[in-house]
Amino acid sequence: MRIAVYGASGFTGRLAVAELRRRGIATALVGRDPDRLQAVGGAGAAVRVADPADPAALTAAFADCDAVVNCAGPFTFWGEPVVRAAIGAGAHYVDTTGEQHYLRRVFDGFGAQAERAGVTVVPAMTDDGGPGDLIAALTAARVAPVDRLLIADLREPGSGASRGTARSMAAIGDEEPLEYRDGALRPADGPAPQPIVPPGGADAVPLSVFALPGVVTVPRHVTARRVHGAIRSEVAALFAALTPDVVESVPETVPEEVRSAGRWLMAAEAVGADGRSARGWVTGHDAYGLTAVIAVEGALRLAAGKAAPGVLSPAQAFEPAGFLDALAPSGVRWQVD
Ligand SMILES: NC(=O)c1ccc[n+]([C@@H]2O[C@H](COP(=O)([O-])OP(=O)(O)OC[C@H]3O[C@@H](n4cnc5c(N)ncnc54)[C@H](OP(=O)(O)O)[C@@H]3O)[C@@H](O)[C@H]2O)c1
Repeated sequence: MRIAVYGASGFTGRLAVAELRRRGIATALVGRDPDRLQAVGGAGAAVRVADPADPAALTAAFADCDAVVNCAGPFTFWGEPVVRAAIGAGAHYVDTTGEQHYLRRVFDGFGAQAERAGVTVVPAMTDDGGPGDLIAALTAARVAPVDRLLIADLREPGSGASRGTARSMAAIGDEEPLEYRDGALRPADGPAPQPIVPPGGADAVPLSVFALPGVVTVPRHVTARRVHGAIRSEVAALFAALTPDVVESVPETVPEEVRSAGRWLMAAEAVGADGRSARGWVTGHDAYGLTAVIAVEGALRLAAGKAAPGVLSPAQAFEPAGFLDALAPSGVRWQVD
């Protein structure tokens, strides 16, 4: 088995390569810059140069690979050529995007091609996109049929954001956050999210509307009138301050001690058509290290042929409780009340 990491030279890409090495999986380091790819190093890793503007080179780079882990963002700019090339090469695909409109284009644009090629595409396999979608599925199941479902990102301020994340936030800065309402994705102008008390916390945390990936992925498998996304208002304010000049001053990487100290937490609150409610949460530390684990775990499960072809949400591709349990060795805990 061989797994390609596109954007292997970046912060998240290097973490994904390290996770593949830890598991003893042969890896192809793919990207646009040979020097930066060579600098990732590692005995036996194949370095392959392919720019998103060169479809033939991209497809050739993935040709002998069972799956592609795409870590090159902003995905809004370079994501779709990599999805197309993976499908063309017959390689399954996961990525680390959190960009809602890109995600929507992948679901809308690549499903039929992926099915014809026998390839499974699962975007948004990150600390928020993967666990957020999986915990939403488990929470919704408690009160189905569901009227409304909130996905909330309650990560603590100070857990760190990379320059790549800042660039992606800036790239989508002009795009309207979406919510799912009455059968379609629409601009998020429904009722504002109410503050919620995080598990183990004493005080209610104010929330702001936010363009979470789960708003696009969850309605693929949960039938609900409304699915909306929110983030801790304090963190929303930090992201809103990312003007283009500030973005380029953000350090490229987040040091391991900052990552390990920072706690991320995804919550899902579902209200059934009969008024019953359920809340689920999933939490851990080191959002970037865990994103690499989630993306690699997903790619390996796809490579093992365990999902149907097409473009799927995490909860459609992977059994939700089993996948979250597989993250326990990385310190992930989850619960549905
Ligand atoms: N929870 C989440 O939502 C989450 C978590 C982790 C990561 N992410 C996302 O993952 C992405 C990567 O983040 P990061 O911190 O790893 O960023 P990074 O360190 O800046 O890495 C970006 C990667 O993309 C490549 N790249 C940039 N421009 C390119 C282009 N024009 N053509 C081809 N490749 C290009 C870079 O290649 P060079 O080395 O050649 O520049 C590098 O390998 C971001 O979109 C981030 O938002 C999301």
